[in-house]
Amino acid sequence: MNNTISKIGVFTSGGDAPGMNAAIRAVVRTSIYYKKEVFGIMQGYDGMIAGEIVKLGVRSVGNIIQRGGTILKCARSKEFRTPEGRKKAFDNLKKNGIDALVAIGGDGTFAGLKVFYEEYGIPSICLPGTIDNDIAGTDYTIGFDTATNTAVDAIDKIRDTAISHNRLFFIEVMGRHSGYIGINCGIAGGAVVTIIPEEDMTLEQLFNKLDEGGKTNKKSSLVVVAEGSKIGRAMDLAQKFAERNNYFDIKVTILGHLQRGGNPTYFDRVLASKMGVAAVEGLLNNKSGTMVGILNNQIVYNSFDTIINNKHLIDEEAIRISKILSI
Ligand code: F6P
Repeated sequence: MNNTISKIGVFTSGGDAPGMNAAIRAVVRTSIYYKKEVFGIMQGYDGMIAGEIVKLGVRSVGNIIQRGGTILKCARSKEFRTPEGRKKAFDNLKKNGIDALVAIGGDGTFAGLKVFYEEYGIPSICLPGTIDNDIAGTDYTIGFDTATNTAVDAIDKIRDTAISHNRLFFIEVMGRHSGYIGINCGIAGGAVVTIIPEEDMTLEQLFNKLDEGGKTNKKSSLVVVAEGSKIGRAMDLAQKFAERNNYFDIKVTILGHLQRGGNPTYFDRVLASKMGVAAVEGLLNNKSGTMVGILNNQIVYNSFDTIINNKHLIDEEAIRISKILSI
């Protein structure tokens, strides 16, 4: 066990994700369990630079396991990309005696921490917290399950009104570079077509598929579009299809940031709790410079380089299934 660590700083960074609070709680309580002090750094790297650091105790993280968002707030910091910004951040950590870090965030967070770790050598571990599920080295990221459930719930509601009015809806879900939310919502929401950035689909293929529905007297339909779609976002696709279609009445719904909020599901709470414990135990067992992941239900630690230089490949089986089921 690494006995040189005495004060652990924890922060959330990048886009928020449901379950971040459960992860903070687990980090705080595990640190205290191992007799370490623990500090919350507000607003991610921006708060580290500004010195917004607060001492946390067992009770500071009571009543948060079930809450969405993050009590530590989140930011995407420009200043931390500069050596001057990182120097200020390091000075503030030193001033507070913080000698180890746990970061909860996505790939941008990890890239920042890797540079900082290499420059200042402060023991550091990351946890994957993003709704996108686009991080290598883990089957699931904290927040993905909740976001997908939220989106599917919304899609079900849209389906009700789509059927009542015989309408075709283009529904946009999040996922700037990743189709994980999209493909899973497509399957669970019964979409006729799902468009994700990892798959090459032409406009012609999309339109032909929708025309088929018209020819077979299909009255209503749902198309799920991931925001990272390479052939256009939901609004563009709807407009283009409307120019050549006079069968369907077409509507668009962009689910947007509602997918980032809400109480985390049981799955995200348990995942975040397991990962939070593993982060602190990893720090104390000399696993610095890694990200905690879960693969085949086992906790694993992979180096920052492995995580940053690899992609979480899309689930090809999910793509195959979605095609079979949308005939
Ligand atoms: O990375 C998570 C994510 O929700 C993406 O799916 C989305 O494209 C992006 O964040 C939105 O970021 P912002 O909150 O800065 O608009």
